Amino acid sequence: MRVDLTITNLSEIVSPKGKPPVCGKNMSQLSIRKNKNIAIKDGKIVYIGSEIPPALRTINANGAIALPGLVDPHTHIPFTGNRAHEFIMRLHGKSYMEIMQAGGGILSTVKAVRKASLKELVLRGAYALNEMLKLGVTTVEGKSGYGLEKTAEIKQLKALKLLNKVQLVDVIPTFLGAHALPEEFEDKKEYLNYLSNMLKDVREYTDTVDIFCEKGVFEVEESREFLERAKAMGFRLRLHADELAPSGAGKLAVELRAVSADHLISADDETLEAISKSATTAVILPGTSFFLKERFARGRKMIDLGSAVALASDFNPGSCNIYDPYLIMHLAVTRCGLEIEEAVTAYTINAAHILNLSNRKGKIEEGYDADIVLLGLNSYTEIPYMFSRITVVSVIKSGRVVFHES
Ligand code: NIG
Ligand code: FE
Repeated sequence: MRVDLTITNLSEIVSPKGKPPVCGKNMSQLSIRKNKNIAIKDGKIVYIGSEIPPALRTINANGAIALPGLVDPHTHIPFTGNRAHEFIMRLHGKSYMEIMQAGGGILSTVKAVRKASLKELVLRGAYALNEMLKLGVTTVEGKSGYGLEKTAEIKQLKALKLLNKVQLVDVIPTFLGAHALPEEFEDKKEYLNYLSNMLKDVREYTDTVDIFCEKGVFEVEESREFLERAKAMGFRLRLHADELAPSGAGKLAVELRAVSADHLISADDETLEAISKSATTAVILPGTSFFLKERFARGRKMIDLGSAVALASDFNPGSCNIYDPYLIMHLAVTRCGLEIEEAVTAYTINAAHILNLSNRKGKIEEGYDADIVLLGLNSYTEIPYMFSRITVVSVIKSGRVVFHES
């Protein structure tokens, strides 16, 4: 059989193991294959072994390591505008919530996004996605939530759909209409009702609904009814939960069998225990803690309790202007207590699980999508040590070499 591409001279092929979502102790079990080659045909991995099948093209990895293309399951692409001034305000003592309640924060990006054309949102999103691709991130989730009214929310969802077509990263959309209360509404219940009525139109663009369930934003009791309606319509649920203050949102995620509870910086022991006994995956976002100078999610405790943990960037203009997966993994290891093996599992198969893609993404196995990143390291164990200076040697997306170090 003649294949499309072979990758030879790899020092190690690193892949998570086990059935997704990979939980607790199993998160540290990676498969490490030394000195093997990878063959790719029709966008899929077709062979891993010592042979070098005849191929149309060969990449000599020169001793680099191979990881599954990284999956970022929580970003706020697409957006526009810039909130650098808020970063300075925070340095001078204002909190994220104070800035938000004074009409800045999310609402300032809402102003920018409402004004922006679809084309502008797509161009700005494509730029970020292309930069992420060069780092080896091959699948990215993006959310609405900077429109907060029907036309602008749908404009963001359309931008995500177009982004999936016009650039190389796979883009998975989520509806986050419940991100903040827009200025036109005084009553949160009325706004959530308005969003519920929008769900039938949103369905064409996504199967997943998210909410910022937080003290002072949408509280647990306000969120439940909206989420139940979305669930009854067949949407998968995700929650921004217990981010800045403990609010019961993590427990609500468990109660509603949400796919994920994201952030969890402030989640108490009881919440972490409830999550560990549930089918809900904890998504930790250490870039946000770092950027906001907040405490970090207790990733170690989550995994010790037996939870499945995924990692993501939370890339957005306000709380985390970071999309570099190696910085996020560095923070996961140094601040959240993960082992590097667990961070790899969290950024690959468990991240793919959140996006319902774990049957074909997040592992280097025969039959999986040929989304692969080659890193110029002696071993994956060097990732947190080298993070800001890792050489990305090559990125392969759907079997095509889309980036090669020059
Ligand atoms: O995940 N917490 C709510 N949403 C984002 C921040 C969005 C923004 O500040 O624009 C987050 O941190
Ligand atoms: Fe977020």
